[in-house]
Amino acid sequence: MPRPEPARAACPPEAPPDCPICPRLVACRAANRAAHPDWFNGAAPSFGDPDARLLIVGLAPGRTGANRTGRPFTGDYAGLLLYETLLKLGFAEGRYEARPDDGLRLVDCMITNAVRCAPPGNKPETAEEANCRPYLAARIAALPRLKVIVTLGDVSRRNVLRALGGKASDGAAGHGSEFQAGRYWVINSYHCSRLNTNTGRLTAPMFEAVFERARALLAA
Ligand code: URA
Repeated sequence: MPRPEPARAACPPEAPPDCPICPRLVACRAANRAAHPDWFNGAAPSFGDPDARLLIVGLAPGRTGANRTGRPFTGDYAGLLLYETLLKLGFAEGRYEARPDDGLRLVDCMITNAVRCAPPGNKPETAEEANCRPYLAARIAALPRLKVIVTLGDVSRRNVLRALGGKASDGAAGHGSEFQAGRYWVINSYHCSRLNTNTGRLTAPMFEAVFERARALLAA
């Protein structure tokens, strides 16, 4: 059962690392902690510039990525293309070395996840998305200069629309599609997962084009 959505003002933008709300995700975290006590094993906080005009919304922490390192997309395959692209387009500075203390800095950009805890098989359940959505809504609301949201994959797109108070059908799906939702521009991208990049569904030029478009919207 999804928990009742709390008033937005009552929800902080970051979930506590030991968030107790989703029993399945709590059990998954406990199993990861038992097997790997040295891992982060918690609700992964958003990463980046608190004054960002660009927000990137992923799906959920990868078990050996953000769940291990505590930073979104850090240490798993999906982070390679994401951080390489952000560095290339000037939304990041430094070097990405797949660890949270690599000194990488996001510029005018923040990365968060629709679901903050690592789900089994990278697949959150609908109730888990709903439980976590108040954090996403609060994250968006807490960025005073936010203008553009890039969604990575369709779970992200649907949750962003719902977090903004709309319906999942309010904005077109598909790589490269874009729409306005409230005062924000939303651009959809295929998720930069290993599956999508290895099969060629998402190429580096396709991914770069999304962030070039974000850059153009920010400049408009
Ligand atoms: N790591 C994340 O933090 N989010 C994703 O969506 C995938 C990997």
